[in-house]
Amino acid sequence: MTINRMKGNTVKKNVFFAVVAAGALAVSMAACSSGATSTGTDGGGDKGLIGVAMPTKSSERWIADGNAVKSQLEEQGFTVDLQYAEDDIPMQVSQIENMITKGAEALIVASIDGTTLTSVLQDAADADIPVIAYDRLIRDTENVDYYASFDNFKVGQQQAWSVLNGLGLAELDGTPIEGAPAGPFNLELFAGSLDDNNAFFFFNGAMDAFQPLIDDGVLVVKSNQTDIEQVATLRWAGEEAQARMEDLLTAQYSDGTVVNAILSPYDGISRGIISALEGSGYSVGDGWPIISGQDAEIDSVKAINSGEQYGTIFKDTRELASVAVNMAVALLNGETPETNNSEDYDNGVKTVPSFLLDSTIVVKDNIPAVLIDSGYWTEAEING
Ligand code: GAL
Repeated sequence: MTINRMKGNTVKKNVFFAVVAAGALAVSMAACSSGATSTGTDGGGDKGLIGVAMPTKSSERWIADGNAVKSQLEEQGFTVDLQYAEDDIPMQVSQIENMITKGAEALIVASIDGTTLTSVLQDAADADIPVIAYDRLIRDTENVDYYASFDNFKVGQQQAWSVLNGLGLAELDGTPIEGAPAGPFNLELFAGSLDDNNAFFFFNGAMDAFQPLIDDGVLVVKSNQTDIEQVATLRWAGEEAQARMEDLLTAQYSDGTVVNAILSPYDGISRGIISALEGSGYSVGDGWPIISGQDAEIDSVKAINSGEQYGTIFKDTRELASVAVNMAVALLNGETPETNNSEDYDNGVKTVPSFLLDSTIVVKDNIPAVLIDSGYWTEAEING
């Protein structure tokens, strides 16, 4: 596996609202917030077939993504083949192969392992089918045309800023708070799956924010595990994170010291970490650590409300779907899709033109403004 260690970026995204047009607003919230739905090619139009490959239904965010992409494409008259591969790489390859065989006009792909699609995407290229990488960069192939995602380095910074905010060290935009406590605070780090390009961007962004405070001794990583290879979580699995957190608590924190903060790059990982803490005698309140997250999954929004998790990063799946759909439609109309970054996402073969969206830190106080007012979750879903 080739690992991409490149740093992220600081792109201006002032064209964002131009691209994320009415389509995003038209997406029904039912599509966003309902549970698993059937996949397949029902309910489409006659503009042709578009294949949409998603990694897994085990995470609610990908269900929301799949539903949003499907409904937006159908609104535009396309038929959609939406498939989930349950994090099984050969299954995803064969699903994409099937889409090509069925005559898909374009493919929108959120990969499981971004390095494993080279051969199937050669088949797509041979059949002149354009490919859009959805949220996760597809690596090691020239046959990926565009990339729709978020500013992933910034997402990582935001995860760190949320941790620093919880410790009273910084504002949510990363600005240091004057007269902040000197610490030291014990911090442990978690990263995502090494086969997902995003994991590097998130981790590098977070470490960019943490490093000066580690250097000053305000933050202490007691385990000394600060390399992404040491802290990665295969397939972003909560159980794996839980097991590693249990090991850390046993090895580093059985001497009476407590862990004050934990960098988690994804809500499912945060939930595993929370289970480990609860199993080791920690309870919410004094001495409970600050924990970050990502994706604003409903169980984690509830956990933020109850104080188990400090924050998450909200990435609006409706907007991401809208960007990817606009890219596909532009390509099929012979137009050039709008992009706002042509530098940062080198996939090992080429730099993939990208459109990067903005993300928002969510903490308890702004749940209503960010998640309820935008219609992403209802009050009843959060409090239910
Ligand atoms: C990443 C994605 C994150 C999170 C994670 C686990 O690729 O950018 O938002 O969803 O996968 O699913």
